[in-house]
Formats: sequence, structure tokens, C-alpha cells
Amino acid sequence: MKKLAVLSSGGDAPGMNAAIRAVVRTAIYNRMEIWGIRRGYQGLIEGDLFQMQAQDVSNIIARGGTILKTARSKEFQTEEGRAKAYQQLKDRGIEGLVLIGGDGTFRGAVEFFKQYHIPAIGLPGTIDKDLGGTDFTIGFDTAVNTAVDAIDKIRDTADAHDRLFIVEVMGRDAGYIALHSGIACGAEDILLPEVTTDVDSVLRRIADDERRKKTVHVLVVSEGDDMEGGAQGLLKRIKTDFPKLDTRLSVLGHIQRGGSPTCADRVLASRLGFAAVQGLREGKTQVMAGLVNGEIVFTPFEQAVKQHAHMSRDMLQMIRVLAV
Ligand code: F6P
Repeated sequence: MKKLAVLSSGGDAPGMNAAIRAVVRTAIYNRMEIWGIRRGYQGLIEGDLFQMQAQDVSNIIARGGTILKTARSKEFQTEEGRAKAYQQLKDRGIEGLVLIGGDGTFRGAVEFFKQYHIPAIGLPGTIDKDLGGTDFTIGFDTAVNTAVDAIDKIRDTADAHDRLFIVEVMGRDAGYIALHSGIACGAEDILLPEVTTDVDSVLRRIADDERRKKTVHVLVVSEGDDMEGGAQGLLKRIKTDFPKLDTRLSVLGHIQRGGSPTCADRVLASRLGFAAVQGLREGKTQVMAGLVNGEIVFTPFEQAVKQHAHMSRDMLQMIRVLAV
């Protein structure tokens, strides 16, 4: 294999640049030509590709976002879109792809490769950590640390005013950011999509806390939680049931997606980027490179998108116990 291309797709994640750098440098080290595709699959369809040199990735390891830009392409979900994408690769003689993204990226890849058999390896780049075949995804550690920093600050002001705060964190259908940041910040309650939320029990727990004269309540809610009305709905119920409680809602939002990646994310992204190019050279294809128990593992795309990373029972049980 002599010509590779790399793209980032879906929601950006801190560490994507570190991954791009590792892919580009590993390819060049192995005397391969490496092309960058801008704006994910959409850029591929539109032929927005350029050949990359080692210097193109200088000084990006510490930067959030992605120098290749990213997008969620509707056109790639169509047969015509995928045919155009294939033509762009064929025209340039590109023989292999490295795809950095989340479940949407890999679902797109599965469809593409049913028809066009260009070897591809994926890297898990998503703050949500909602993929199987890896213990961590690129960006999760940074996002969760950003959430922790923000929630710690919220607790300070909550404490100063004796307030109840609902903090909504990201995670479209996975609660890992909520679980980890909630535990790390000593949240009184953590609401996740993986566990059915019974709002009445949440309210009962607040009443218990009130009886025990807890002055600060911090409830961390994942944006993907199943309860009706989400965090806004919960805010309304709390205000109605506890009119004397001074209650606020803070939605952390996209702040969790930006910022300089943590050391853990930079090392993870570098290892996986290096492994992806090595994997392609060894003939691996249609797999995602992940890290399981500290070792590189390749998992077929279909499996990576179907299974979520394992959510430890002990962590779920701990939530109530440590909030006593
Ligand atoms: O997939 C990452 C993620 O940040 C989710 O947690 C969130 O639901 C979604 O992307 C937000 O997407 P957008 O930036 O398109 O609003």
C-alpha cells in the first residue's frame, strides 16, 4: 500500500489532531503518500483532498478541534454520494483510508465498504465513549475533565447560596460523561440514559437530602437521559415540588468538545493513529483500532457500533452509596 487518506468525521473531539499527526507521520515514515480529506465524507464527495507533509501536522498535538475540519454528511448516506466519494479516491489512486470519528462515521463506513472495497481502519474519536472494542475513546478524558472543572466551580457557587443545581452534560445516547464527572464531583444524583429514570424517586431522594439538612445538591444529568422533558422537565418538577429550594439549571454544552487534549487523550490518539497505519500495512481492514486493558485491539466496525463500552455495575451502585 502506497497511498493513504485520513479524515475526521462527526462531532469533533479533543485529540483528533494528535491522531491525524500520528497517522501522517507514521505513513511518511513508511514512505507512503498521505492525503488529508477536509470536512469528513462530505469533503471526500466534493474532492476536497490535499497531499500532506510531515510539517502540515507540526504543533497541532496540543490543539483541540481538527485541522481537517469535520461534518456529518447526509449525502454520504445515499448511494449517489458514496459513488462520488469512491470516484474521488479512485481518481487519485488512494488505496487505504483512516477514518477518525464515532458511530455515525463507522456506520457510514460499513455501507461504503459493502460496495467499494477500499481497505479502511477507524479510530474512535468521540467525547461520548459510546463504542465497543475500546476502553476509552479519543476526547473522552478531556471532555470529562472539562465537565469536572465546570461542575466543581458550580458546586462553589451552589454552596455559597445553598442552592440545588442541575448540571446537564453531553452524551446523546451514552451516559459516560455524566457517570464519570458525577462521581468525580461527588454529585448527589446522576441520571443516565442507560438506567431508566424514575423522576418520583429522584424527588424522594431530594426530600431525604433536605431532611438530612444537605445544603447543596448537585444533580448531574446526561443530555440523553430518558426522562420526559429532560433536564428542563426535571427543573420544573423540582421547582413545583420544592418551592423553597433555590434551583438552577446549567447546561455545559459544547465547551465539553473543545480545549487542549489531556495527556491521556494525546497518548491514546498517538498510539491509535500509529496502530491504524501499521494495521493497514499488515492488511487489516474494516476494523476500528481501540485500546483494551492497555493493549491495541482491532474490532470490526459492525461490532464497535453495536456494543457500547461496558458500564461497570460497581460504578452504578456507588452513586447512591457515596451520596449518603
Ligand atoms: O457525539 C458528540 C456530541 O457532542 C454529543 O454528545 C452531542 O449530543 C452531539 O455531539 C451534539 O452535536 P452537535 O454539535 O451537532 O450539536
